[in-house]
Amino acid sequence: MAKDGEKKTCGQVMDEWKEFIWNPRTHEFLGRTASSWGLILLFYLIFYIFLAGMFVLTMYVMLLTLDEYQPTYQDRLATPGMMIRPKLESLEITYNIENTESWDKYVQALDAFLTPYNNSQQVMNNKECTPDTYFVQEDSGEIRNNPKRSCQFNRTMLEECSGITDRDYGYRAGKPCILIKLNRVIGMLPGKDGKSPYVTCGAKKEDAANMGALVYYPPNGTFNLMYFPYYGKRAQVNYTQPLVAVKFMNATFNTDINVECKINSNTIAEPQSDRDKFAGRVSFKLRINEAKN
Ligand SMILES: *[C@@H]1O[C@H](CO)[C@@H](O)[C@H](O)[C@H]1NC(C)=O
Ligand SMILES: *[C@@H]1O[C@H](CO)[C@@H](O)[C@H](O)[C@H]1NC(C)=O
Ligand SMILES: *[C@@H]1O[C@H](CO)[C@@H](O)[C@H](O)[C@H]1NC(C)=O
Ligand SMILES: *[C@@H]1O[C@H](CO)[C@@H](O)[C@H](O)[C@H]1NC(C)=O
Ligand SMILES: *[C@@H]1O[C@H](CO)[C@@H](O)[C@H](O)[C@H]1NC(C)=O
Repeated sequence: MAKDGEKKTCGQVMDEWKEFIWNPRTHEFLGRTASSWGLILLFYLIFYIFLAGMFVLTMYVMLLTLDEYQPTYQDRLATPGMMIRPKLESLEITYNIENTESWDKYVQALDAFLTPYNNSQQVMNNKECTPDTYFVQEDSGEIRNNPKRSCQFNRTMLEECSGITDRDYGYRAGKPCILIKLNRVIGMLPGKDGKSPYVTCGAKKEDAANMGALVYYPPNGTFNLMYFPYYGKRAQVNYTQPLVAVKFMNATFNTDINVECKINSNTIAEPQSDRDKFAGRVSFKLRINEAKN
């Protein structure tokens, strides 16, 4: 087949290549004249400038429509998620009273989590608000009322679960405290008829007898209305999430206790499905071990 090609000598091939790269007769470089190359480069230059321009313009128009202080799109969660602290690898709190190391990690996690709640920090960053009413700070039209202030949530409001009077949050005594927080949802007004939403915890059927009595801090386990609405990280720079502490006063030792805590409010809908198992509630396992004699 390609017999013709084989007949060419090496020198001929080299010459053909050289002529292709630069042809002195026609003044062509790689088969094109200078003006042809110039036109191609010009075309691509204009083409890419046009593309870049389009990109910048689209970006600019999009950014114009964004609100600096509020996300344009937000999950319309009828039921905000809840979470517990301490939360290490899993939603499980298991420790042995006699083994300090087994519960000290929970104490340390709580210490770290509660540091910004220190009264001194709260007094420095936040305002003392009127309880039981929403702390509304609306913008008047285009005039931003920013930055917005936030209300104090003093660490001492958690009383026995503040880590101040009882430095190990009850873990050493087998009466551990668990903190519960409600995820932030911008603009959420969770109360109804001037009543604050509150947390209640219960055990799964077979564990009910083992859970024992609970004590809530602040009293009644309420998230006071004054911590709502939340206006977002940019607008409310010092926002402190309210907490509810649950103290297990008489949990049975050496047994698994499956606990579920949920938010009670007339405006936060009951979770409709199991689609989001953290909507308005949180489940965790508690097990306090004690060496048997
Ligand atoms: C917060 O309070 C705790 C307990 O009173 C204390 O140990 C800790 O040093 C305080 N932290 C800050 C940052 O003030
Ligand atoms: C928080 O604590 C400070 C100092 O301990 C106190 O002056 C302030 O009234 C407290 N705020 C609230 C909301 O209880
Ligand atoms: C946030 O806290 C800082 C002090 O840490 C304070 O100077 C500032 O005024 C606070 N901002 C608002 C909006 O409360
Ligand atoms: C707790 O709830 C009871 C009954 O609903 C009410 O009488 C009491 O005032 C509440 N306590 C606080 C501190 O809100
Ligand atoms: C603690 O729970 C046990 C059963 O688990 C019960 O017999 C006892 O009366 C409870 N103690 C208190 C103070 O509630």
